[in-house]
Amino acid sequence: MPHGPADAPLSRRDLLKAAGAASAALAVTPRDALASPAAATVTAPATTMMGVPFERHEKVRVAIVGTGLRGRSVLGELLAVDGAVITALCDIVPEKAARAAKMVTDAGQPAPALYTAGERDFEKLVQRDDIDIVYTATPWPWHTPVCLAAMHAGKHAASEVPIASSLKDCWELVNTSEKTRKHCLMMENCCYDFNEMLIDTMVKKGLFGEILYAEAAYIHDLRSILFEDRDEGLWRRKPHTNRDGNFYPTHGLGPVAWYLDIHKGDRFDFLVSMSTPERGLTEWREANVPKDSPKWEERYIAGDFNSSLVKTMRGKTILLQHNVTLPTPYDRLNSVRGTKGVFKDYPGRVYLEGQPGGHGFKPVDTYKAEHTHPLWLRVGEIARQKGGHGGMDYLMAFRMIECMREGTPPDFDVYDAAAWSAPWPLSEASLAKNSAPMKFPDFTRGAWQRPGKGA
Ligand SMILES: NC(=O)c1ccc[n+]([C@@H]2O[C@H](COP(=O)([O-])OP(=O)(O)OC[C@H]3O[C@@H](n4cnc5c(N)ncnc54)[C@H](O)[C@@H]3O)[C@@H](O)[C@H]2O)c1
Repeated sequence: MPHGPADAPLSRRDLLKAAGAASAALAVTPRDALASPAAATVTAPATTMMGVPFERHEKVRVAIVGTGLRGRSVLGELLAVDGAVITALCDIVPEKAARAAKMVTDAGQPAPALYTAGERDFEKLVQRDDIDIVYTATPWPWHTPVCLAAMHAGKHAASEVPIASSLKDCWELVNTSEKTRKHCLMMENCCYDFNEMLIDTMVKKGLFGEILYAEAAYIHDLRSILFEDRDEGLWRRKPHTNRDGNFYPTHGLGPVAWYLDIHKGDRFDFLVSMSTPERGLTEWREANVPKDSPKWEERYIAGDFNSSLVKTMRGKTILLQHNVTLPTPYDRLNSVRGTKGVFKDYPGRVYLEGQPGGHGFKPVDTYKAEHTHPLWLRVGEIARQKGGHGGMDYLMAFRMIECMREGTPPDFDVYDAAAWSAPWPLSEASLAKNSAPMKFPDFTRGAWQRPGKGA
């Protein structure tokens, strides 16, 4: 694969040629083609949505449900991508929808239709005939209902993370995507971050040898945000009062699933989980919340630090952690270990067997010139200028629109959405049984055995 600023990255035609060459029961996604041009020989069930291309769109008409902090942030990314048109917006707070609508008209697009008549108004929005995909950035409990309504109305669906918090909802999303033939994407932006794509490229080139172990996490001190009287403070504290486990597994797990070829020759088999006692929210409230606040009626039951171990069908092991209630610097762990080397993030550093200088790590930047992902070479500069979270949000929005315009399969599908979200209910179930192992369902119905590189 050509690399370096002087080389042209793989063109779309190259990617499609690679996909065509590997024509079998399943099409090959652009990401497969980058990673493993020879993939795809296992027959999948006829119902599968794996590898199914989007129909081609000249313009992609997007509706957004939930125009709070994240919805408006992704709206800003979409407005910067060629070919994305925002036709409708929905929020239970009319002022938030109006703020988002102004962003659309300020960008020179026609005023979108607004739906602000309550929690179920998205059901009217999805009936419009000028929408190709509905993206939702609502609070967690609304992700599944919005995606289901969109697909039932003949639209593709895209959701913020996690897409579901029960196995029943995961299955309903899979079944509905297969039945309606509409894609259901979980927009895991961290898959597109610079280091994650660089490391995925190095993994696929075999630099770390066979990958045996990975670490993934969401470790982010959200205590003050969780107690605010606006935005996420209005809903994100609730699960800490009535559930336990890893509420937010996907930012760490999505990129690791790409490293490990999950659903391209492997899948998650089972997990075991442990939580510490809860102290963080209780102590923060004691120090910061006035005694007459109704927040004092709450009791927090989610352990502060949740650690799970995931085993894959091919025996690989993943450490998966979650902590949002203790003082800490931000960390997604983002680490892989193989038979030839190690990558660890925060800060990014690499050790490859036999490298000059002995057993010390080298900064990951050492590998940028040779292994930067083609997508970052192609649109990294504009991503950095326009995009939130260091550019990964722009790349995520860009790829969703690009796949829909060019009629390729998406970078991730409903099976990824379900499997990456499943650790919440599975960790909760494991905790309830004294850390007993909990099996992941095979959401792909066997299609995961399609080999990726090295499988
Ligand atoms: N991928 C990322 O990096 C990232 C970053 C931040 C948040 N998120 C996710 O995005 C989602 C939204 O988070 P946020 O920070 O924007 O929260 P937020 O509270 O700022 O926004 C949620 C919005 O949804 C609206 N809403 C609530 N119920 C609704 C309904 N039934 N119909 C329509 N609108 C409804 C609210 O009024 C609010 O405007 C969450 O799932 C969160 O986990 C992802």
